[in-house]
Amino acid sequence: MNARISEVRPRQIWDSRGRPTVEVEIVLADGSIGRAAAPAGASRGSNEAVDLRDGGSGLDRWGVSAALRGIEEVIAPRLTGMSVEDQSGIDAALLDLDGTPQKSILGGNAMIAVSMAAAWARAVHRGRPLWQELSDGADPFLPLPEVQIFGGGAHAARRVDVQDYMVVAVGAEDYRQALDWTARVYLAAGEVMAEAGLLAGVADEGGYWPAFDSNEEALDRLVRAIERAGLRPGEDMAISLDIAASEFHDDGLYTLAADGTTLSRDEMVDLVLAWVRDYPIVSVEDPLDEADAEGLAAFSRQAPAALQVVGDDVLVTNAARVEDAARRGACNAVLVKPNQAGTLTEARAALEAARRLGWDAIVSARSGETEDVTIVHLAVGWGARQLKVGSFARSERMAKWNEGLRIADALGHARMAGREAFRWTVLRGAGR
Ligand code: PGA
Ligand code: ZN
Repeated sequence: MNARISEVRPRQIWDSRGRPTVEVEIVLADGSIGRAAAPAGASRGSNEAVDLRDGGSGLDRWGVSAALRGIEEVIAPRLTGMSVEDQSGIDAALLDLDGTPQKSILGGNAMIAVSMAAAWARAVHRGRPLWQELSDGADPFLPLPEVQIFGGGAHAARRVDVQDYMVVAVGAEDYRQALDWTARVYLAAGEVMAEAGLLAGVADEGGYWPAFDSNEEALDRLVRAIERAGLRPGEDMAISLDIAASEFHDDGLYTLAADGTTLSRDEMVDLVLAWVRDYPIVSVEDPLDEADAEGLAAFSRQAPAALQVVGDDVLVTNAARVEDAARRGACNAVLVKPNQAGTLTEARAALEAARRLGWDAIVSARSGETEDVTIVHLAVGWGARQLKVGSFARSERMAKWNEGLRIADALGHARMAGREAFRWTVLRGAGR
């Protein structure tokens, strides 16, 4: 009874790019309060839930006053009196109120903030951390961090074309060690950049600004940074790329401005597969345009079986799209960004669809973030084996990595999914 919602309070706060975003507090009859904030993407899939923005010029472009009004005038009256014990009921009410496939009336930003705030309110009401509330009594573990070292693409004025050059501590014993090794590589990468006269600040997610002459130069420097950190590339620390190819695709062609080349689909597939062959890369996200289903299937077919092929823009955290991609033979892992879906129920459905297919799932932040740490709780509570939250700098990123350490303490261990659980063990075993 006292888990019933008595108030839904929206407010505008500011995100990590200094732009407005939506925060929501849900107050229950027993006084429990849950709070969550919506993140914002910059390289968005065209089929994801839309951010409702006021539009206009200057800062108004990103204004969220219409989104806040929708929460006050439409969502709050409907949700008041509902119990947060019923997350799917709350999410169904949100879907019903909006009624559009991409949440364009109320806004995915409004809806995800409400949906996540309801989950937090339930956890507070039950006196449990959210990860525990979501884990259904399963034995939880920490996710393997995927951490950006260089940030390019839409996050760095397209200084290089590839969006994320990330490291994955495939050889780490546990979450704590994975972060420790990552910190060493981040430090070493900064030194490598400084010595080469290339240190020029950081991109949107805290990765170093990629002052490189080509996309491949970043791979070279990253391998050097791993070695300089005293780690073995491919053994201790591997590379993961988010190509975000939709950003530089037009009319069947891929224009790599940093390389001065324009490639066909087949040439793009060959280029990325050559990188996979030449560098210790274990995971590739969005290697082709989001609408190039055939290209993505061809890439997946030609890639080594051990390579993780992640769909972000193409799958937009949607269960039906995950299933469709599987039928076409595209991808073998899904990026789960709750705000692409718009509600927690739909985000979880995408993750469960992936699990049923034997795919892996990576819970992910956006390039525009806040101090909100909900995604870490989702990753642990839902048993996702990987977590992607940007780089190893800037507190909107560190808040999430650090929340994982607190959860590790609460669990009494920092155990990650077993190394043997990942396909890329096979890749290393194959004598790379
Ligand atoms: P976004 O990109 O948050 O800027 O949309 C992140 C990603 O492509 O993974
Ligand atoms: Zn992506």
